[in-house]
Amino acid sequence: DNARAASGSAFSFDEVEAGIDEKHHVAAGYDADVLLRWGDGLFADAPEFDPTKQSADAQRRQFGYNNDYVGYIPIDGSAEHGLLVVNHEYTDPHLMFPGLVTLAEGKITMAPLTKEQVDIEIAAHGGTVVEIRKADGKWQVVKEGKLNRRITADTPMQITGPAAGHDRLKTNADATGTKVLGTINNCAGGVTPWGTYIMAEENIHGYFGGELPADHPEAANYERLGIPEGTYQWAGFYDRFDVAKEPNEPNRFGWIVEVDVNDPNSTPKKRTALGRFKHEGAESIVAKDGQVVFYLGDDERFDYVYKFVTAGKFNPDDRAANMDLLDEGTLYVAKFAEDGNFEWLPLVHGQGPLTPENGFASQADVVIETRRAADLLGATKMDRPEDIQPNGVNGKVYVMLTNNTKRKDDQVDAANPRAENAFGHIIELVEEGGDFAATKGKWEVLLKCGDPSVAEVGASFSTSTTANGWFGMPDNCAVDSAGRLWISTDGNSPKATGRTDGLWAVDTEGEARATSKLFFRVPVGAEMCGPLFTPDDETAFVAVQHPGDGGDDWEGFGRPSYYEDLSTRWPDFKDDMPVRPAVVAITKQGGGKIAV
Ligand code: FEO
Ligand code: CA
Ligand code: CA
Ligand code: CA
Repeated sequence: DNARAASGSAFSFDEVEAGIDEKHHVAAGYDADVLLRWGDGLFADAPEFDPTKQSADAQRRQFGYNNDYVGYIPIDGSAEHGLLVVNHEYTDPHLMFPGLVTLAEGKITMAPLTKEQVDIEIAAHGGTVVEIRKADGKWQVVKEGKLNRRITADTPMQITGPAAGHDRLKTNADATGTKVLGTINNCAGGVTPWGTYIMAEENIHGYFGGELPADHPEAANYERLGIPEGTYQWAGFYDRFDVAKEPNEPNRFGWIVEVDVNDPNSTPKKRTALGRFKHEGAESIVAKDGQVVFYLGDDERFDYVYKFVTAGKFNPDDRAANMDLLDEGTLYVAKFAEDGNFEWLPLVHGQGPLTPENGFASQADVVIETRRAADLLGATKMDRPEDIQPNGVNGKVYVMLTNNTKRKDDQVDAANPRAENAFGHIIELVEEGGDFAATKGKWEVLLKCGDPSVAEVGASFSTSTTANGWFGMPDNCAVDSAGRLWISTDGNSPKATGRTDGLWAVDTEGEARATSKLFFRVPVGAEMCGPLFTPDDETAFVAVQHPGDGGDDWEGFGRPSYYEDLSTRWPDFKDDMPVRPAVVAITKQGGGKIAV
């Protein structure tokens, strides 16, 4: 079209109008079909979802809660038949359990959870591996799929790499320090070049309760991560989540987890070589010489951007040869200079300050306390690093920095250019020589987010960006096979911006650079996760997380509103169904690539 030709935009669709209501909205000419909802059966024998009779047994056979990362692993190279892998980041008991929240005399009360409800929460965490197939242009779940699997916060896992077997990981239940039950708070993730599923353990602090004596050797380690925070009630039923009873259990979380999806009975592995922090995700790319590079964000205000470079090389002809690549390699943390250069500083025991004098007796200590090691190296403190996406088409790497309202004027630097950064920004990296394994490169700010019509916000969207096209709080992102950038957001609420979260298409090249267009938006109360494009670019999967959270339809399922007058029962819109997080498949009507 002419408008596109004039601006040089890579995107042709007519954008959605920003706003807020009880439904999802996609650009005209596209279908957005709900594929998998919380509670949907994943196996032929899975029980039907009944919110009034939910059980942990049922939940272990059903799609989990709060879908975040979405990945696709083709079967026989197909773009229309594969395994969908989905993280279930966390649970919202006030939205899950009927009658849990009550309002009496103007006061909101949430009842304590029963053990069965805690067990449902545990079973609703983790991830899903499920076979899906496209037939007549629509995606379907294959419940008979032999590789279908639920991974939960109770699934036996193995700990591998430098911290495996270390005393700091030993507990009453596991004298070996190598066996742990479950994975928690799996936010974004990744699929490796060899077709395994990566789950990142992010906000682990909320699951631990109890009190650790101030003089305990792990006290400073846990304080750096905010452990124990005690949001969840699991510690009341399971001693391992009580730090007074099992002080080493938190050292067994905060890792990158790798799942071999080709064997539904495989033991997922916590790969400690990639460090321990609030792991947002782990997107990867094969570097020039065959080493594999994983980009890692640590989502906390003033924390860091990392990458891991495998020691071994990817072998495209021998899957088995790649299966332990994540146990050996170098973990780096980023230091951004004011002049547009950056360096990757190695987190290697014995190098620089990472010595016994500073409490690092081995590489195990370095990875267990990755943040403290990075502090000592003088890495750059960032505005909450979320998803980081390498782009194999143009060789660049995009870093989502979601926000940091606590940054003060005297803490501003070139890579974090705004104090009280409420809307976040995006940094673009170019590794030296176009080599993703390089130890330095150049960076620049691609976009400062927020409403460009409000001068004080200081946003930097192009002037062709419409009132619908700007966004704040970039979180997850994806690059399609044409190398185009898509960004999903977390935190655009009516209070802050008068609009919901959504999926935006962002130009990165030429005159149109920093132009953004709204492609999809979520129902009230939700945030936008995923996104993920199939290899043929004909489907975009998006994950609608916590729809209705904060909606005013609190009786039975919700909680009182801070949105006023808005509520939803997305996606079923039935009185006897709660809101349900769900994965949505977006396709072009009549077929074809998305948004070309
Ligand atoms: Fe779970 Fe950093 O978002
Ligand atoms: Ca995230
Ligand atoms: Ca991503
Ligand atoms: Ca998020």
